[in-house]
Amino acid sequence: MNFLFEIFRTFALMNTATIIDYLKTSDTSELFAQAKQSKSEIVGNKVYLRGLIEYSNRCAKDCYYCGIRASNKKVHRYQMDEQAVLEAVEYAYRKGFGSVVLQSGEQQSHEFTQNIEALLKKIMALTNNEIGITLSLGEQNEDTYKRWRDAGAKRYLLRIETSNRALYEKLHPQNKIHNYDTRLKCLETLRKLNFQVGTGVMIGLPFQTLEHLAEDLHFFQDMDVDMVGMGPYIEHADTPLYSIVGVGSTHPQRGGQTPPLQIENRFDLTVKMIALLRIQMPTINIAATTAMHTLVEGGREKAIEIGANVIMPNLTPIKYRENYFLYDGKTVVKDTFDDVVNDLEARLAHVGAEIGYNLQGDSLHFKTKSV
Ligand code: 5AD
Repeated sequence: MNFLFEIFRTFALMNTATIIDYLKTSDTSELFAQAKQSKSEIVGNKVYLRGLIEYSNRCAKDCYYCGIRASNKKVHRYQMDEQAVLEAVEYAYRKGFGSVVLQSGEQQSHEFTQNIEALLKKIMALTNNEIGITLSLGEQNEDTYKRWRDAGAKRYLLRIETSNRALYEKLHPQNKIHNYDTRLKCLETLRKLNFQVGTGVMIGLPFQTLEHLAEDLHFFQDMDVDMVGMGPYIEHADTPLYSIVGVGSTHPQRGGQTPPLQIENRFDLTVKMIALLRIQMPTINIAATTAMHTLVEGGREKAIEIGANVIMPNLTPIKYRENYFLYDGKTVVKDTFDDVVNDLEARLAHVGAEIGYNLQGDSLHFKTKSV
């Protein structure tokens, strides 16, 4: 074990140039071998399930890349009723999913805060306090975060999207509600309130360089996060970032810009980022994201094989799902939830992983920090 930690430390101290070399090379054998070894020694081969419930697509934000941005008038807006959420939770609980994630577009209102607070209490009661609840509900004030924490949520996902301020500003409108510093402050508040904190970035964005990605890895380390979800950027036709170099683009910096990477490159880069992160932060939870699955058949399993240990199967009732397209190509699965879980089990077996049923799968990083 000591020997292994030595290897990890060497990697953990990787400088930007070394990271970029790894992101460039086509010979991934050494990188992937180290990442797999790190994973199996430290977090093991269990994959934790978080049932994803896309609570609402109402969103105050106007992020240039996102399909449910406020200005996209083509989207039919919904908010799940409480009963529908509780049914999804009950399914997750009954199936032995250790956790659920409540995700939504960003809404900041007294009513929203209260709705979520009430829901959290009901979820805890329904599951005898046995299910882990993760929230992914955007930027909120400290009081709101605290109320949700007190009501039973113990993890929070808030992606930084990119840790590079200049790039962040190209991906978001320049106004008070899209502010890089606010995003950072929220992450700090969540940490202070003792949430397990998750963040993440998109990979293969227009304007994004390998230096930016190396910075992202350093950012995760500096923020000492407990969980990371990173996925490839995928265009959505009804957003300003779509076809950024094209004539139809409505992005303020349209024309003359570097186009985003080819799809295969985005996928390969995401896999490498996961491998590097697993080596750099061996005790955190890393998600194999839906976007990886959308981009490449078997993409999620590849992520699990080289470093990820969390999967978020979608438990949103089918009728809502077609309105929660953050990017193009997200398939609305027609199989039953049971079929999806059985299929996942078989796919994971192929890469030597197994589902950690009835386990919440807290971040080891968080647990070891707290002792
Ligand atoms: N491509 C990939 N990921 C996206 N997200 C939003 N839009 C896109 C897109 N076009 C991601 C963001 C957000 C998460 C919920 O979905 O990173 O934080």
